[in-house]
Amino acid sequence: MAVDTTETLKTIAEKSGMYIGTCANLQAIENDAAYVANITRHFNLVTPENALKFRVLCPERGEYNFEAVDKLVAFTAAHNMQFRGHVLVWNDQLPHWLLNGNFSRNELASILVNHIETVVGRYAGKIPVWDVVNESVDELGHFKKTFWYNTLGPAYIEMAFEAAHRADPAARLFYNDYGVEGTYEHENGVYRLLQSLTYHHIPVHGVGYQMHLSLEHTDRKIIGSLNTQRLADMGLECNITELDVRMRTGEGRFPQQYEAQAALYADIARNYILEKGCNTLILWGFTDRYSWIPFFYPGEGAATIMTEQYTPKPAFFSLLEELKKKI
Ligand code: XIL
Repeated sequence: MAVDTTETLKTIAEKSGMYIGTCANLQAIENDAAYVANITRHFNLVTPENALKFRVLCPERGEYNFEAVDKLVAFTAAHNMQFRGHVLVWNDQLPHWLLNGNFSRNELASILVNHIETVVGRYAGKIPVWDVVNESVDELGHFKKTFWYNTLGPAYIEMAFEAAHRADPAARLFYNDYGVEGTYEHENGVYRLLQSLTYHHIPVHGVGYQMHLSLEHTDRKIIGSLNTQRLADMGLECNITELDVRMRTGEGRFPQQYEAQAALYADIARNYILEKGCNTLILWGFTDRYSWIPFFYPGEGAATIMTEQYTPKPAFFSLLEELKKKI
């Protein structure tokens, strides 16, 4: 079958007003022309994989290094892409000065608020959407005992959204989490959190579902199960924010599994884009060349829609086909 070369993920997504995105690193953009050709061809949204993480941005207290983010913001602006800010408040990738600082409640609250005001304020008008708080609820629906929670309690979540809103009143602010589709309790915990934030008029505009899926562990039946309607009823948007589908990469295991992977990518697009009306779908990388999976899940990989050589896999085409149905 001849491949229509004018069709890209981006051109199809834009016909229905959608954002199709990927995380990215400046290093690949600066050193890999094929990477740039593909990212600009297929995506109209980019989020930094690590450049906005607290430890990367502020390794020493009070010393921010904005260079990589500035360059990424300029890159997206030059290519008409939306820049999504990821992530302001998380338990991971925190700087050592913060982790080892033994800060009091008041000190930590002011560090949190200052960080958010500094970062969001700098990019006000340039970064229209933020993942403000990441991974606060566990699979039983309880607040995770994170670095921030242990000193500030659940109030850190409200503080974070309010600070982000003060710093850029026009920005759209998201709560982001992984594995929410995994248990009913997790989903309910996230729902209760958003219900409480909304009830207290905390500025929050949506929920991001990461969707780091695995051929081995993800039950296809649960993928479309999230009840986004009850969030929509509270005026909240839903986005898919970090989709990838990993597989075991041992001898003889892949690429035989590419078809099964393609089915999962299509499931997500069908359920969340077509049926539940999400308008933003972000992949956690689009080429196996730079995917985080082999480092974090030894023995697994091949999680993205293109090979290391940028050859589109069946998942690329299945995703494209689903996006077309939205037009
Ligand atoms: C990951 C990056 O991909 C890695 O490069 C980094 O070492 C660790 O973080 N959920 C998130 C993302 O919200 O920020 C994580 O990104 C993946 C899981």
